[in-house]
Amino acid sequence: MEGNITLTIIKPGAVRNQYIGPILNMINESGFKIIAIKMIKMSLEQAGKFYAVHRSKPFYESLTEFMSSGPIVVAILEKENAVEEFRKLIGATNPAEAEEGTIRHRYAESIERNAVHGSDSEENAVIECDFFFSKSERLSYL
Ligand code: CMP
Repeated sequence: MEGNITLTIIKPGAVRNQYIGPILNMINESGFKIIAIKMIKMSLEQAGKFYAVHRSKPFYESLTEFMSSGPIVVAILEKENAVEEFRKLIGATNPAEAEEGTIRHRYAESIERNAVHGSDSEENAVIECDFFFSKSERLSYL
């Protein structure tokens, strides 16, 4: 399974703007299979744990407040080479640098409110998927 999955989060801004459908559509059209999905609202503490690697960064407090400010959609996506392929689909972290046709170019508001999260390595993908989903909440098509 490792290598074929990645975790995505549709962030509170994109959920508020009614972009869940369009973003999931782009994900499916790009050949990813959604093998787990749910809508939740993180507590500040949960958001802090999820982004713990950024604890020392100046944007940590604002980021965790934003990520716990409203509902999010979390999903596990399956595709060969999922982490790299999904990072191509979402585009650069800063939407000002994201290529046309990427999710962030279309739907992000700013570097913090950048519409979606995608795991940055295969190792982190496994950790992040386990953060939100038990094994019994996942399907596998591969
Ligand atoms: P994400 O893919 O969720 O992973 C970490 C997040 O931190 C990132 O998207 C951005 O939303 C946020 N982030 C990264 N760099 C900055 C920055 N310079 N200023 C504000 N937020 C940032």
